[in-house]
Amino acid sequence: MRSIYVLLVLSAVNALAQPAQHPIPRIVEKDGRHALLVDGQPFLILGAQVNNSSAWPAELPKVWPAVEYMHCNTVAMPVYWEQFEPQPGRFDYSVLDALLSGAREHHVHLVLLWFGTWKNGSAHYIPEWMKLQPERYPRMLDARGQPVDSPSPFAEETLKADIHAFSALMHHLKQTDAQRTVLMVQVENEAGTWGAVRDYSSAAQKAFAAPVPVDLLNALHKPAGQATWSAAFGDDAGEFFHAWFVAHYIEQVAAAGKSIYPLPLYANAALRDPLNPGRPPSYESGGPTDNVIPIWRAAAPSLDFVAPDIYMGDSPRYLKVLDLYARPDNALFVPETGNSANFARYFFAALGHGAIGFSPFGMDYSRYSNAPLGASRINEELLAPFALNYVLAGPLDREIARLNFEGRLQAVSEEKDGPEQALSAGDWRVSVKYGLTQFGPADHPKGNPEPIGGALVAQLSDNEFLVAGIHCRVDFQTVGDASANKRQFLRVEEGSFENGVFHPLRIWNGDQTDWGLNFTSVPQLLRVKLSTY
Ligand code: DGJ
Repeated sequence: MRSIYVLLVLSAVNALAQPAQHPIPRIVEKDGRHALLVDGQPFLILGAQVNNSSAWPAELPKVWPAVEYMHCNTVAMPVYWEQFEPQPGRFDYSVLDALLSGAREHHVHLVLLWFGTWKNGSAHYIPEWMKLQPERYPRMLDARGQPVDSPSPFAEETLKADIHAFSALMHHLKQTDAQRTVLMVQVENEAGTWGAVRDYSSAAQKAFAAPVPVDLLNALHKPAGQATWSAAFGDDAGEFFHAWFVAHYIEQVAAAGKSIYPLPLYANAALRDPLNPGRPPSYESGGPTDNVIPIWRAAAPSLDFVAPDIYMGDSPRYLKVLDLYARPDNALFVPETGNSANFARYFFAALGHGAIGFSPFGMDYSRYSNAPLGASRINEELLAPFALNYVLAGPLDREIARLNFEGRLQAVSEEKDGPEQALSAGDWRVSVKYGLTQFGPADHPKGNPEPIGGALVAQLSDNEFLVAGIHCRVDFQTVGDASANKRQFLRVEEGSFENGVFHPLRIWNGDQTDWGLNFTSVPQLLRVKLSTY
């Protein structure tokens, strides 16, 4: 009897001493919607990506204050191949370990960016010992046989070396990250080629003359046959060929890493103009641009999704990109976006498209600015609208991710010259208006002086909603006879979420609800119960 008692006590003590088991993060899909599961539950990445040369221990003190100020829950940081493998086969984990421990100290997760064979279409991050052997680790050749500053996807030795290094990275994470600080890994960065459509090396030429792989024809619902690339795809042949072989290369790197440690993996895209795309090489050829997403999905099944780096600031283009990448076969994640104030509101549009996360680029105090792509100076004033998004969403990040996965969340961002938006939610029509005073009717919204507003509305049950917003007014109307709106606020509670439970702080009524629900730059979350009279 006594020994059983001792055993029970010992196992209880043991259970306390063991760190809790954290399942490996993963992407799940249901009914065409996606979630990133962290600790088994949907998680929303409130992210920031650091500047390219900021993921060094010496620079991290300029990263963490910006991350803290923004209230991020995740930071995206590069891992540099040149640093990681200074000599062939000799790996230096010191910088990676500093990223992991720094992230843990600051209570944030990481998305790691493998700056390997490709970085913005070039191979500038391959180690010095590779750069000095261009015959062994070749660049692409253009149609005249001249080298292009872009790695060849047919470079077998480069591929072998990348697989080896990426495998070492994933192995190290498996060994040292039981707490799952790292949520996902981006494989390469903006792979593809600037300035040429495809490789003309002898290996590439041979492949271009060969029949199109059956897997690709099947994926594109084309009849299987012996068609060459030119016969099958006409003017698109060069670009599709390049996309297939770049993705095929990355698949081999990703598959090797995933077989060691199956974290979610993805590739990011330098976009083409979604409204007037033109033709490559006016945009980066071979990367996962919107027109070749099916090619990438077929060639690289070990990638969980491909993701758009969105630096186009106008809403027609921004929203179109979100439409193009949020697909039943592709989870939407915004891994990079501009860091000027204009971009902050797109956090809401991304949520409205079911995004698993949002991560503006260049968010640190290293004093580097990528203007005109982003802001000319990074300081708290610049970061404030991004911080406001995350202060608002942070306490309910899990709820947002879950409600989105269940298809119960809608969100919009203000469009230039678009002072009014309408959403439909069962028996209710939800209006979002911008540029109104807090007091007074909603007849003629004029929009904010700059489009900075956004709103999210989640339907909890038929007549109950969570509502939050920035610089807007949200209201509900009964569907049907527009002249006779019979909406009645039963109760409007302002509150906050803690551990998944809504805690009301006060009830809004009188001026605070008579004209609708007005949101300013104060982060406020409302639980709204409606009825009709
Ligand atoms: C997109 C790239 O993915 C980033 O690494 C960075 O180079 C930006 N462009 C420009 O700042």
